[in-house]
Amino acid sequence: MPQHIRADEVALRDVSAGYPRRPVLHQLTAHIPQSATTAVVGPNGSGKSTLLSVLAEVLPLTSGTVERAGTGRPGLVVQRSAVADTLPLTVRDTVAMGRWALRGSWRRLTAHDWSVVGDSMERLGVRSLAGRQLGELSGGQRQRVLVAQGLAQEAGLLLLDEPTTGLDAAARQGIAAVLHEISADGVTVVQATHDVAAALDSDHCLLLRDGRLVAEGTPADVLTDEELKRAWHFPQPAG
Ligand SMILES: Nc1ncnc2c1ncn2[C@@H]1O[C@H](COP(=O)(O)OP(=O)(O)O)[C@@H](O)[C@H]1O
Ligand SMILES: [Mg+2]
Repeated sequence: MPQHIRADEVALRDVSAGYPRRPVLHQLTAHIPQSATTAVVGPNGSGKSTLLSVLAEVLPLTSGTVERAGTGRPGLVVQRSAVADTLPLTVRDTVAMGRWALRGSWRRLTAHDWSVVGDSMERLGVRSLAGRQLGELSGGQRQRVLVAQGLAQEAGLLLLDEPTTGLDAAARQGIAAVLHEISADGVTVVQATHDVAAALDSDHCLLLRDGRLVAEGTPADVLTDEELKRAWHFPQPAG
């Protein structure tokens, strides 16, 4: 579907944001189309994770506005490197944390919650690993568990920070396929990514450099040969 006939899930206008004494995003104006996949690309340190924190409503703006069409808390899947691999958590517990995040409280989960947890594990192909400890899994398996946790939040806006970085091609494609499926179900998916294939395969693309929006549009428009050379001059993950 051409991007121009989609409504916006999020409209950012002149957004500046950052950390104490460290401005990162500078007057960023961009659109996130509804029920579609958006890739946020750019070199390391260009502000991709910071932009996801703004979209997740966990980082306040310094100035500008963020308008959201949908309601409910956005779901956030953090970078795998930010998750301790040694936590004594099972796959099932990790995915169930997505339900707690949704409820905002550590109360008992209902039968419905557990059924969403089961469905989310099923969708990412990790149900057979439900009783395993996170630390025993491969990188690709752990990443699928984190995406299942995001899915379990049943958010209308799902934000993922480099969900396929460091994974082999088969694992990357598996995650990409699930993200497309859930966007077809009506979820707005935004992923920060170093994965050129994932970016090219997205419906919409934002290119950041030094906290500024360099280009926005279809991946074909944004990721020109020149931009690919420029933005992907850093080493690609193996596999
Ligand atoms: N919690 C933080 N406190 C201070 N500076 C930060 C913090 N997180 C990120 N930064 C800085 O903000 C800039 C953008 O970082 P980030 O959004 O993580 O970029 P990317 O995800 O594109 O690599 C970097 O210079 C980084 O060092
Ligand atoms: Mg990042």
